[in-house]
Amino acid sequence: MENPNNATRRNFFKTGAALGASLLAAPAFSNFSTAKEQAPKENIGLPNFTKRRTLGSGKHSLEVSAIGLGCMGMSYHRSFVPDRNRMIALLRKAAEMGVTLFDTAEVYGPYVNEELVGEALAPLRKDVLISSKFGFNIENGQMAGLNSKPDHIRSVVEQSLKRLRTDHIDLLYQHRVDPNVPIEDVAGTVKDLIAEGKVRRFGLSEASSENIRKAHAVQPVTALQSEYSLMWRKVEDDALKVCEELGIGFVPYSPLCRGYLTGLINERTKFIASNDNRATLPRYQPDAIVANWAMIDVLTEFGNHRGYTVAQVALAYLLAQKPWIVPIPGTTKQAHLQENLWSAEIEFTVDELKQLTEAVSKITVVGDRYTGQSAQQVKN
Ligand SMILES: NC(=O)c1ccc[n+]([C@@H]2O[C@H](COP(=O)([O-])OP(=O)(O)OC[C@H]3O[C@@H](n4cnc5c(N)ncnc54)[C@H](OP(=O)(O)O)[C@@H]3O)[C@@H](O)[C@H]2O)c1
Repeated sequence: MENPNNATRRNFFKTGAALGASLLAAPAFSNFSTAKEQAPKENIGLPNFTKRRTLGSGKHSLEVSAIGLGCMGMSYHRSFVPDRNRMIALLRKAAEMGVTLFDTAEVYGPYVNEELVGEALAPLRKDVLISSKFGFNIENGQMAGLNSKPDHIRSVVEQSLKRLRTDHIDLLYQHRVDPNVPIEDVAGTVKDLIAEGKVRRFGLSEASSENIRKAHAVQPVTALQSEYSLMWRKVEDDALKVCEELGIGFVPYSPLCRGYLTGLINERTKFIASNDNRATLPRYQPDAIVANWAMIDVLTEFGNHRGYTVAQVALAYLLAQKPWIVPIPGTTKQAHLQENLWSAEIEFTVDELKQLTEAVSKITVVGDRYTGQSAQQVKN
């Protein structure tokens, strides 16, 4: 018997197909050339959120949806906290729409984001992959420095498993490299957890090339999760090259630059400082928001003539770099989720990607991405 969800999905996608076709009917004039021989090949709007990509190599690889879902903002650091039951429904909807990779961490909340993800995905556990992270001390509900001591990793994993209502974490990341613990010891601890069946794959976040190599020699790394968006392309010079050489996948976090690369944040946007790191990050201060608007202008112009939104162009740019890149945009809205997933259908021609890259490369982004302790922690 046919799964009723499939019928619902098909109807949804039929509607999407009509919408996609009307979007593509947009005028062809653009500063960005859209010559006939460069006609886009993508199936935007067709029933296809089933695109898959592979992170990592060989027996350490993981096949995942081409776009994952960053779950952090459903409880943490994105100002408002939406209704919990609605977020549970959205997480399940995402799985139904074809998302298989769900990203969380102990520190998101702390704890409550793992609990949310665990409750939402428990009934679908065999169909989805959960990534989580260890690496911080938590005191009085706040992050209190780094801690990747082996005993601490073990204890965090035990607690994460309970919150996630599962017996294994599919991809376990060290959230930040701890300069006080040799990375080989961290990799060795995760290797043991893999042998025990509590963890399936090993990942690092914001690790230096040197530490990636050292860790990989002990326990092959499946994915590096670091910040990567059109507002922060430094990884193109270093991390992506190491990943390519070692056969490690790359998971861009904050791929929409925490919402900026949608065009919906402007200099009047208020961030609630008690639950939003953007309130203090230099790039989200009114002057920087205005100064960086040239980026939104480029993405708007490029997208307008092809039927894409700013967010879709931003995500499609990342996907176009390498077939082993899997962005994890976060959202609390089904409309945004659909929009983001659709970007996996976009295929730039070589010429389009060149034009887009040249245009964004001319823009000097204003405002540091992190400050203080957070800035130090991404240098290890
Ligand atoms: N490893 C690390 O150190 C690290 C650090 C940060 C984040 N992460 C992971 O990366 C994930 C994503 O990062 P992020 O949340 O920082 O940034 P992001 O994905 O770049 O942006 C999320 C923000 O963009 C908005 N948004 C998403 N899609 C949109 C669309 N189509 N149109 C308009 N607005 C849209 C969301 O608001 P709405 O809810 O209104 O859509 C949200 O405020 C997190 O959930 C987390 O799992 C990891």
